Formats: sequence, C-alpha cells, structure tokens
Amino acid sequence: MASSLPPLPAVEGTEPSRSVLDSFRIAIAKRISEALPLSIEQVYPGVDYGKKGEDFTVALPRFRLPGKVDDLAKQVIEKFQPDEWVQSITHDKAFLHFKVNTNNMMREVLNQVHSLTHDTPSVPEYGTNASGKGKKVIIEYSSPNIAKSFHVGHLRSTIIGAFLSNLYKACGWEVVSFNYLGDWGTQFGMIATGYEKYGSQEELEKDAIHHLFDVYVKVNKDAEADPNVKLEAAKWFKRMEDGDEEALKNWRVWREMSVRKYEEEYERLNVKFDVYTGESQVGKKWMDKALERLDEMGLISDSEGAKLVDLEKWKLGKAVVRKKDGTSIYLTRDIGGAIERAEKYKFDKMIYVVSSQQDLHLAQFFKVLELMEFPWAKDLVHINYGLVQGMSTRKGTVVFLDQIIKEAASVMHDQMKTNEDKYNAIEDPVTTSREIGITGVKIQDMAAKRINNYTFNWSRMLSFEGDTGPYLQYAHVRLASIGRKNPELIPLPPPSQIDTSTLAEYAQAREIAFLLGTYPDVVKTALKTHEPSGVVTFSFRLAHAISSAWDAVIVKGEPDIEKARAKMFLYECARDVLAASMRLLSIRPLERM
Ligand code: ARG
Repeated sequence: MASSLPPLPAVEGTEPSRSVLDSFRIAIAKRISEALPLSIEQVYPGVDYGKKGEDFTVALPRFRLPGKVDDLAKQVIEKFQPDEWVQSITHDKAFLHFKVNTNNMMREVLNQVHSLTHDTPSVPEYGTNASGKGKKVIIEYSSPNIAKSFHVGHLRSTIIGAFLSNLYKACGWEVVSFNYLGDWGTQFGMIATGYEKYGSQEELEKDAIHHLFDVYVKVNKDAEADPNVKLEAAKWFKRMEDGDEEALKNWRVWREMSVRKYEEEYERLNVKFDVYTGESQVGKKWMDKALERLDEMGLISDSEGAKLVDLEKWKLGKAVVRKKDGTSIYLTRDIGGAIERAEKYKFDKMIYVVSSQQDLHLAQFFKVLELMEFPWAKDLVHINYGLVQGMSTRKGTVVFLDQIIKEAASVMHDQMKTNEDKYNAIEDPVTTSREIGITGVKIQDMAAKRINNYTFNWSRMLSFEGDTGPYLQYAHVRLASIGRKNPELIPLPPPSQIDTSTLAEYAQAREIAFLLGTYPDVVKTALKTHEPSGVVTFSFRLAHAISSAWDAVIVKGEPDIEKARAKMFLYECARDVLAASMRLLSIRPLERM
C-alpha cells in the first residue's frame, strides 16, 4: 500500500518528507493557482487549517485580486474535480473550505508518524524539522541564587527553558544550555561572615542548599542589630573580587556542593544543563574591556565615583555599571558575560529566560551592548514570563526546589491512595506519584501564555479531571496499555501490510489522524512564538480526540484481524505523537500508573 499519489510540484519552505500535510496543502494551492491568476507559491501561505469539520480553509480576499469574491470562488469550484489529494470543496462567503481525501490522508499520516518515530528509535523524528540546521543557540535558564531561596520565578524559568531547549533541538539547532547561577555578590561576604559563627561542615554535607540559606538568614538578622556585620561582609567580598585565595576557599566548596545538589533535583525534573556557569565565572577581563570600550565611545558618565550609562533617551533610566568601591555588579557581569559568550561560542542567537520582573534589567544590558555596536547584540532575546501567586506547601511557604518536588509528589500520592484498588495495582507508587505530580506542576505552568500571571493550586493541577498533567499521563498510559491488553496483535506487521482504509468509517479515527498530521506545524509555530501553551493545547486536543475514540474504535474483540490491526496501528501512532509532545514539554510519559 505504498504511496502512489499523483506527483506535486515542490514549494519552497515546505517539507513533505517530514510533514505530509504539506503535500495536501500544495495540492490545494495548485487547484487555486490553476483557476485564478496566482502562482502556487502565492497561494500556499494562504492555505490555513480549517475550523472543525473542514480540513483547510482559504480566505480569498487575502490575494487582493480584482473582481467579486463570489466570482473568484465560482471559478475555483467550476474547475474542481475530486482527486487522490483533495476530496471536496465548499464555498462560504469569502472562504473556500477543502476536505482532503480521507483514505490517503490517513495512510500517509500514519505511515509517516510510524516511520519517523521508529526508523531510528533512539532519536524519534516525527515533528522535527531542519530549519535551524548549522545554527547555534545558547539558552540560559533556571539560574537560581546560591544561598537564597529557589522561588517560583526560578521554577518557571526552569520549566520554560527546558521546553525551549527541546524545541530548538527539535528544529535542528545546536543548543547549549546554560545555568547562570547567582553565585557572586555581597551576599557571599555576608555568608562568609556568618559561616564563622553558624556554619557546620556536617550540615553542609547533608544539604548544602538548606544550610547556606540558614546561615544567610541568621547573619542577616545579626546585621539588623549590628551595622558592622555589613561592613565586614563588604570587605570580605572585596577580597573575593580581588582573588584572595583564602577568602575564596570556602565559597568554592559551597558552590560546588550546591551545584551537585541542584543537579539531582534537575534530574528529577528531567532537566539538564550543558554548562553550569554563574556570575562568579564572568572573567574580569571581559568586564574591564567592556568598560574601556564604553569609555572610549563616550558612553560613560561619572556620578559621585560610580560609573553609569545614560539610557534615558530610550526610557531605560541610568544604568550603573561600576560601584564606587570598584566592585562589579549584576548588570556589568551580564554585559561582560555576553561578550565572553559571543567570543567563545559564536552563537547565532542567545536566549535569556528570565521573569518579567527583570524586563528593565534585560532591556538595559541589551541596549548597552547595542550601543557598543556589537553586531550580535540583535541576536539576544529575552523570554519573559509572569508571576505566580500562592505557592506554599501544607507545612508553610516554599523556599527550595526540593520542597516543591516533594509536595507535588506527596499531594499526588495521597490522592492516588484514595482509590485503593488502583493504588494497589501500581508497581512503584512513589516514583509514579512523583512523576505525575511533576507533570501536574509543569502543565499548569505552561498551559497559558507565558506572560500571564497565575495562582498556584495544588488540587486543581493534580486532579485527574480537566486539562491537567495527570489527565495527560493517564491518556498516555491508556494508549501504552493497549498492546499489553491485546498481545495476540503484537507485533504489528509493517505499515505497508496494514490496511488503514478500514478506518475510514470512523469519524474519530479521521480526526485523530488529521491531528497527528498537524503536529509538525505545532512545533514550527511554537518556535515562532516561544510559547509552550500551543503544544499543551495540542496535547489536550489529541488526548480528547483519543478519549472520544475509545467507545467507537474498539480493538478488543474486533473479529476482523485486518480491522483490528488498523485500529491498533492508529492508537500506536497516537501514542507516539502524544509521547513526542509530552517529551517536548520535558515530561516523561509513563507506561503504567
Ligand atoms: N539569578 C538571577 C535571579 O535570581 C537570575 C539570572 C537571570 N539571568 C541573567 N543573565 N541575568 O534573579
């Protein structure tokens, strides 16, 4: 049943070998170009997905042709003959709606999903594209501050950043992921001062992140009562900046141990970094160079010993780049750091995933780099996101990442226990509840546009009802179980021996197949918008379509083996794509629950 459809012209920017719906779109564009004075290339971008019940829709006015829309439509319709690609056309006001050939669409889509997913199983390729081939992007995300709390802002950066890393990889880019730790600054002088009084090697080894935070809180209390503490701390930090080994010794250990602990927690979240860097790692020489260049260009002014760049012209205030005592600051480190990365990595793009609370900061340092006339300054992108309210656990406010993970796992675990039969059937309830809990947190975070604020709600995000993470995992598990429940059908014969035309009688099957066909476009759109929400929406649409199919497209007990196989094939392909979309969102799809 190999593809033997009539050939189509190639259209720039399409890739039928990765996205077979492109072919159907080309076929539609061809029809229109034959009836109206337009080229296929002109029509193609106007072939949009249709509303429910229609596959594709073309809005005629967009072509700005002379004559009445009705007449134009008539010309297309008069010439129309159904063929192997396009089945029917209807006309409604300014729109032409098209339905593609059901059998061919289903066969082509399912075969493509299957072969691109399983031909090289180590790198499932369905949904990917090569638009970023040969290009390199640095994506900086998460970036918590050592010895301070890991707040929801960092969690959002982690979740969105992990998604973007996967997304750019799926689009063929070489991705280098950076975690830019807040591991420098006067607070380390504070901790060093406090550590002499409150530090404990044992506590540090047990849990560096918690212990350093404790020390920091305590020494801050001391500082409130005694102004000398701050002076002491500033002196200490100055020694660190001057490279005094004695002052740096402890700090090095703290950093190292915190990173190790974070790595474990990121692994739980299915998040990985290529480079752990941080504010401390920005070479002094890059910052000095930057300041020199700014000076030469006459961009720096002096204000009571401090140096600043005046950005009022762009409504970005005055940006201080060096403090009176000569120590560096957050902004200078970002400026120097970007120059260093540009030199070392020669990136084509660099993305910073940072909360919208830092919009001004990012705009300032992007502007400074632009004023310095670095050609790559235009390749810097700030991906921002809104605030989250109300994240606390049953024990109180959340300060650390491991508390968030633990709470998600334990709320989920409690919930699962309420159904005893089901609970007892789960092999490893601890890991399973943690994975589902994390999925719930991630889905809630990525369900709406990034810039929206939202309120953290454990019970809503961890419910099995509604568009939640647990619901998505459940949909995947159900698909994964279909093979186990119908062992006599496994393994399926190769797609060329499966007759998918037996599925044509089920509207649900058609809907699923078409949706699967749209996935490569979902990925492309996400790359344009940098929004995970489109992928989340797609996953739920697919999960809903599958759930409506269960009662109609039944595998178990289907007496006709040809039909049974085709149905099973449909569900296996649905599972492949659902899993792909979940993995893109950094979620690990579960096999059982
Ligand atoms: N560590 C910073 C914070 O917690 C976030 C770092 C953002 N990245 C950057 N290049 N400034 O606020």
